[in-house]
Amino acid sequence: MTSNHLFFLCLIPLFFGHSIAVDVLKVEQSINDTQTIVSAAEKFELGFFTQPKSSDFKYLGIWYKGLPDYVVWVANRDNPVLNSSATLIFNTHGNLILVNQTGDVFWSSNSTTAVQYPIAQLLDTGNFILRESNSGPQNYVWQSFDYPFDTLLPGMKLGWDSKTGLNRKLISRRSQTDPSSGDLSYGVNTYGLPQLVVWKGNQTMFRGGPWYGDGFSQFRSNIANYIYNPSFEISYSINDSNNGPSRAVLDSSGSVIYYVWIGGDKKWDVAYTFTGSGCNDYELCGNFGLCSTVLVARCGCLDGFEQKSAQNSSYGCVRKDEKICREGEGFRKISDVKWPDSTKKSVRLKVGIHNCETECLNDCSCLAYGKLEAPDIGPACVTWFDKLIDVRFVRDVGTGNDLFVRVAASELERSVRKSIIVPVVVPIISVLIFLATISFYIVRNVRRRAKVAADNGVTITEDLIHENELEMPIAVIEAATNNFSISNKIGKGGFGPVYKC
Ligand SMILES: *[C@@H]1O[C@H](CO)[C@@H](O)[C@H](O)[C@H]1NC(C)=O
Ligand SMILES: *[C@@H]1O[C@H](CO)[C@@H](O)[C@H](O)[C@H]1NC(C)=O
Ligand SMILES: *[C@@H]1O[C@H](CO)[C@@H](O)[C@H](O)[C@H]1NC(C)=O
Ligand SMILES: *[C@@H]1O[C@H](CO)[C@@H](O)[C@H](O)[C@H]1NC(C)=O
Ligand SMILES: *[C@@H]1O[C@H](CO)[C@@H](O)[C@H](O)[C@H]1NC(C)=O
Ligand SMILES: *[C@@H]1O[C@H](CO)[C@@H](O)[C@H](O)[C@H]1NC(C)=O
Ligand SMILES: *[C@@H]1O[C@H](CO)[C@@H](O)[C@H](O)[C@H]1NC(C)=O
Repeated sequence: MTSNHLFFLCLIPLFFGHSIAVDVLKVEQSINDTQTIVSAAEKFELGFFTQPKSSDFKYLGIWYKGLPDYVVWVANRDNPVLNSSATLIFNTHGNLILVNQTGDVFWSSNSTTAVQYPIAQLLDTGNFILRESNSGPQNYVWQSFDYPFDTLLPGMKLGWDSKTGLNRKLISRRSQTDPSSGDLSYGVNTYGLPQLVVWKGNQTMFRGGPWYGDGFSQFRSNIANYIYNPSFEISYSINDSNNGPSRAVLDSSGSVIYYVWIGGDKKWDVAYTFTGSGCNDYELCGNFGLCSTVLVARCGCLDGFEQKSAQNSSYGCVRKDEKICREGEGFRKISDVKWPDSTKKSVRLKVGIHNCETECLNDCSCLAYGKLEAPDIGPACVTWFDKLIDVRFVRDVGTGNDLFVRVAASELERSVRKSIIVPVVVPIISVLIFLATISFYIVRNVRRRAKVAADNGVTITEDLIHENELEMPIAVIEAATNNFSISNKIGKGGFGPVYKC
């Protein structure tokens, strides 16, 4: 567990200091670089700041009131005002604009809905909205939550929504001292099965498993909301924890870090870190690979496949026996895995199919299938084509999904022979792993649950994680951060990550 707690020096003075003691900006008003506005319950503050500190790069941003180092939103991150005063005002169309001394525009709220009597308001959620002065906050025409910086606040949504047509993502900073857009982003993959993904440019770095319908129906999280309604909205959001303010940040190295503010200690505590190391590394095991963690990540192959190159497992795997089209082929079940990635082309989802095996068998290009039972939809069948990429065993037995991989008849015969070995081999290996586990616990003093997953005696996985190499499907963030309770912290509590479709 990365425990790089960030301590606050509460002595840090506010940037500029003079706040207008209101949460709204009216049409005849402006904010200059010495003024701020503060949300009603004094949770957030909006104004100008410079970065690097005492530089001349001016940005309009929102930070926690009293914690100016924790900027949660920046308007003009890629267009700082240089060498001039900066002012936020309304233009004649009722949009907010950010201008320098000579009136050049550096940023605009760009709402397409005209507002007659505009008012801008900073809410206690950290959302900055533009609305008609005589309507409520829910009738905004523009909101900062739709244009995320690198921070996800409770109530803010990642993903797509048909009202705005936007697919909202967190975008990393270029560096700790440079708020301009880096090349990493974190958001919801809206094609294929919906899931959370961290991208570098347009490449997937790592991803969570899919959710569907009501999501993880076996498990209702207390903090994460998953919405999958392909005609209207596909989104992910978090709720505030019981403990205090919380936020998730995509840092400039590509980790997603969930923080909770511990008021008593006056510091942000890391509730959870999600990184693309080990088996979460999207490209680690290549096509038809299967990743498992036994202290370190190891690449194997899906049943019926073998490694393409003995030297480099990231080249993936190739089929041992190509006779898989109407030649007596069948399926091998692999339990407790994160399902393969799904793109528009490589996955097909059909609702109301009861015989998923037949569905896949009838199409010779179908590589694998999986079954879903979504609450509002009933049984559904997922079939994969083209490639099977980024499959890994998940941590706890019973929390992953079953994947049925198409294999040649010869492979089916082999598995019958193999199963004789199971009763002997598995207990022995289990005992060895158990002993290894015990000593690991003693050495590390970290309470983790060990797992032995046997796939017909062929594959044994045992998921133990280095303290500083935490890896997990993004989907289990909700379990890990359940309530954002600190007792769920890695190293203290044994949370059972739940990963269920
Ligand atoms: C900002 O506005 C306040 C109040 O109108 C004023 O006192 C102050 O001098 C202004 N600061 C600058 C830098 O213009
Ligand atoms: C900034 O302003 C100062 C004084 O007005 C001027 O001498 C300097 O050249 C300006 N720098 C830039 C980069 O515009
Ligand atoms: C305002 O910004 C424009 C465009 O960047 C620049 O040309 C102009 O010199 C700036 N005005 C001042 C006073 O710095
Ligand atoms: C606002 O819209 C204009 C014209 O469509 C575009 O050039 C500009 O980048 C937009 N600004 C922002 C801050 O989105
Ligand atoms: C991804 O980005 C690279 C470089 O920016 C570009 O060459 C490539 O075509 C892009 N790929 C896709 C699938 O958009
Ligand atoms: C999060 O908060 C919203 C609004 O208060 C509520 O509708 C939703 O059920 C909450 N989600 C969870 C998982 O508690
Ligand atoms: C394996 O291949 C990948 C992709 O071609 C490459 O990035 C990596 O450096 C290679 N690793 C080794 C150990 O050769």
